[in-house]
Amino acid sequence: MLSEIKSAYLAPKGLNELLLNEVEAVIAVHDRLIFSSKPFIEAHWAQNIWKNTKIISIGSINDASKKLKALQKNWCLYSFTLHRRAKLIQEKLNFKPQKPLKFPITFPKTDLGSWCLLDENTLLASTDCSSPFPNGEPSFIQNKDDPPNRAYLKLFEALTLAGKTPKQGEFCIDIGSSPGGWTWAIQKCGASVLSIDRSPLDKKISNLKNVEFQKRDAFSLLPEVFIKEGRQIDWLFSDVICYPEKLYEWLSVWIKSGICKNFICTLKFKGKPESSIIKKFTTIPNSKVIHLFHNKNELTFIKPWQPA
Ligand SMILES: C[S@@+](CC[C@H](N)C(=O)[O-])C[C@H]1O[C@@H](n2cnc3c(N)ncnc32)[C@H](O)[C@@H]1O
Repeated sequence: MLSEIKSAYLAPKGLNELLLNEVEAVIAVHDRLIFSSKPFIEAHWAQNIWKNTKIISIGSINDASKKLKALQKNWCLYSFTLHRRAKLIQEKLNFKPQKPLKFPITFPKTDLGSWCLLDENTLLASTDCSSPFPNGEPSFIQNKDDPPNRAYLKLFEALTLAGKTPKQGEFCIDIGSSPGGWTWAIQKCGASVLSIDRSPLDKKISNLKNVEFQKRDAFSLLPEVFIKEGRQIDWLFSDVICYPEKLYEWLSVWIKSGICKNFICTLKFKGKPESSIIKKFTTIPNSKVIHLFHNKNELTFIKPWQPA
C-alpha cells in the first residue's frame, strides 16, 4: 500500500480536514502528513506539497543519510514515527536549520527536500517541494517595537513567495489596513501608501512619511479616480474582513481596469470555506491562491505569480 505513494501533503496545524477535502486517493494520514496514490495537485490548504515522492529502502542510519545526500544536499525531516532513528538520520545530513530571515530576502531557487521514515527500513523523500521553507514554516526576524501588531509577518511571507516587494517610489493601496501592520511593512519597503479602513490607524503609523490614511468603506474606492488622474498603482493590498464574494467582485473591477500591477489579498472565511468561491479566485489568470504559514482560516491571493 505505502509503495503506491506518489505525493504527500503537509497540513497547517489544525487544518487537516480542509486539506483532506482537496486531496484525492488518500492512502494514509500521519499527524499532519497526508499520503496520496495520485500525482500531486496544487492543493490550496497545504503548507507544503511533496511532489514526486520516492520510496527508499535503507539498511542503517548511515545508509539512509548516504542515499538522501546522493539525491541532494538540503533535507528537512517531518517526523511522525521512530523519532529517535529519524533524528539520528537528520543529524547525519548536516542540514543547518535556517536562521530567522531578514526581510526583504530574495530566495535562490530552493533545493530543500523533505523526508520522513515510514518504518525502520523505509523512508519517503521528495526533492521537489512546493515551499522553500522547512516544513513550510518561514521564520522572520521580528520587530516588536514599530508595527502595531504581528500582521506584517503575513505580508513578509506573501511578498517573499511572490518574489518581489514594493520599491522606493512605488504607489500602493492598502485596504482594511487598521491598525497598520501591513501599511508599516509597505512603507518600510520605501513605497508610498494610501491606507484605507473604517477604523483609524495607530498614530505611530499614520504619522509615518509617505502614508496617507482615508477613513472610509474600502469597497467604495474604484479605479476611475486614478484613471482620470492618469495614475498607475503598483500594488493593491487587502486584508479586509469581509465575505470573499464581496472581495472577488471588487477585485474583478480593479483587475479589469488594468491600472494595477500587483495584488496581494487575504480571503477570510467564517466557518467552512466554500470551494466555489476559492475556484473563482483560482481561475483569475496568472495568480495563485495559497495558505500561508501565517494565515489562519484564510487563504492568500497573489497576482502575478511566477511558478518556481
Ligand atoms: C484583519 S484587520 C486588518 C489588519 C491590518 N492588515 C494590519 O496589518 O494591521 C481587518 C480590517 O478590515 C477592516 N474593514 C472591514 N470592512 C471594511 C470596509 N468595508 N472598509 C474598510 N475597512 C474594513 C476592519 O476595520 C479591520 O481593521
